[in-house]
Amino acid sequence: MSTTHATASLVDSKPALSHGVAIRPAVPEDASDIANLYQSVYGVLDSERISDHYPFAQFMDAGWVARSCRSGEFCWVVALHGRKLVASFGALPNVGAPGSRDLVAEQAGLIVADPWRQRGIARELMATLCAELAHARVILAETRTANAGGWKVARANGFVPIGFEPFAHSMPERHEAMLMLSRVRASALDERRNDYCTSAKVRELAEVVARSMRFEAPPARDVPGLPTQLHSLEAAIPHLARPDGTCADARRLRDTLRIERQCRLHHDWARMFPRLGGHRSGVIGLRRLRGWDRTSTRYSDEYFVGYQGSEPLGVVEVSLDRIDRRARVLYHHSAVDGLQGIFLAHVLRTLEREAPSTGLRTVVIDVRADSSRLHATLESLGLFPSIYYPALIASERGRIDAVQFTRILDADPSDALDGVREMDTLGRRVMSKVLSLTQNDERLSRVSREKVYRGNEMSILPGHCADTPRGRLTDA
Ligand SMILES: CC(C)(COP(=O)(O)OP(=O)(O)OC[C@H]1O[C@@H](n2cnc3c(N)ncnc32)[C@H](O)[C@@H]1OP(=O)(O)O)[C@@H](O)C(=O)NCCC(=O)NCCS
Repeated sequence: MSTTHATASLVDSKPALSHGVAIRPAVPEDASDIANLYQSVYGVLDSERISDHYPFAQFMDAGWVARSCRSGEFCWVVALHGRKLVASFGALPNVGAPGSRDLVAEQAGLIVADPWRQRGIARELMATLCAELAHARVILAETRTANAGGWKVARANGFVPIGFEPFAHSMPERHEAMLMLSRVRASALDERRNDYCTSAKVRELAEVVARSMRFEAPPARDVPGLPTQLHSLEAAIPHLARPDGTCADARRLRDTLRIERQCRLHHDWARMFPRLGGHRSGVIGLRRLRGWDRTSTRYSDEYFVGYQGSEPLGVVEVSLDRIDRRARVLYHHSAVDGLQGIFLAHVLRTLEREAPSTGLRTVVIDVRADSSRLHATLESLGLFPSIYYPALIASERGRIDAVQFTRILDADPSDALDGVREMDTLGRRVMSKVLSLTQNDERLSRVSREKVYRGNEMSILPGHCADTPRGRLTDA
């Protein structure tokens, strides 16, 4: 991967495209032009901050862009016409769990200056970035639904839709849903394991993605969820396993476990529990791209730490974006297996209780596809599967799929379709399936609507649930 760049003069540009535009990896000297480009396209001057309508405020900060370029933390590619920067795009080259062989890259920020659009520049930029990310087994691309350019460029570069994220980001036009796409190397699919079961809902989404990507979705199995209340812990799991092979007494835990919220982690989990990292709890622990802004309180990380007496037992890290009104569970580490439901239910109840004052709208969490008890637990807590990630993580015996679950706190999920301009058949199938999976949630199905595509327009007819035979999103 060629992400370390010295000076502009040393960087090879690809031969110019037909419009005299050349593409090359960015150098720190490009930082101001890159930041200005994001500001000119996404900056809304009359909002409180210029970056309020873009999830990654750091892309508008020339200092951050220069540092990320210099360190290789973010892999940037740019398009230039002469000396003028006309397009930019980038990726976190490896969001895999520390020390893992996950090898997952996450792309973000595809942008072309207005006068240069519709000339194939974005498509070429993405092709160049994918070549820079040749080490990655899986590349993720979250794309807009109010601008069809993003997902079209991804589709043209071999990406396949794998999920739909209602109300994901605050964008200039609206609180916009995103379409998640993934490009999985054939070798990663070959190494993919299928010897586990998922929940029935997860299987439904997996089947849609599997059809597009040509793999076999894991079978479904009905299993009970993990306990979500301390008083039910003892009956469900009397002896909880510790990684050293000993057992924790559920009755003692019931009486003594307390979960504290901290804004800074006081314990070095990696040192205290070296065998707990990664995705062992069933919650995926990738280091996904997060917004950052040194000048505001828009983003924060919070830690929910469980103690028995003074002994830390587990932690959930949650990243909050107050403008996107979204919380993402980043990981869960626990020294005792079986407490995941207690921890996650506590986090969700806390976030939901505070939602009227924080304005939180959605909560998302990625979990392993082979953790069917966790699927049942999250579904019992009102979450639904929204993304199915094939072959996302590496395990000792091959790669395993993962699932994003979403909880919508204060909106009708079908309203997420309102800004969708245009979508191809594979995208529609995924969107339709995800929306149908929200419908079993009684709280959300109070308001259900039928949405139908007519040409490129989405129209809404009152009265039917999405994905019932009458309510299915129909192909244009
Ligand atoms: C989206 C964007 C990056 C596309 O850049 P571009 O250089 O014009 O894209 P390309 O010329 O490579 O077009 C690739 C394909 O997308 C289509 N496309 C591009 N913009 C489109 C749009 N706004 N609506 C519908 N289709 C579009 C092109 O027609 C072309 O289709 P084809 O493969 O059928 O020929 C650019 O419009 C932009 O910067 N928009 C604002 C930022 C944004 O929304 N980025 C997307 C983030 S996911």
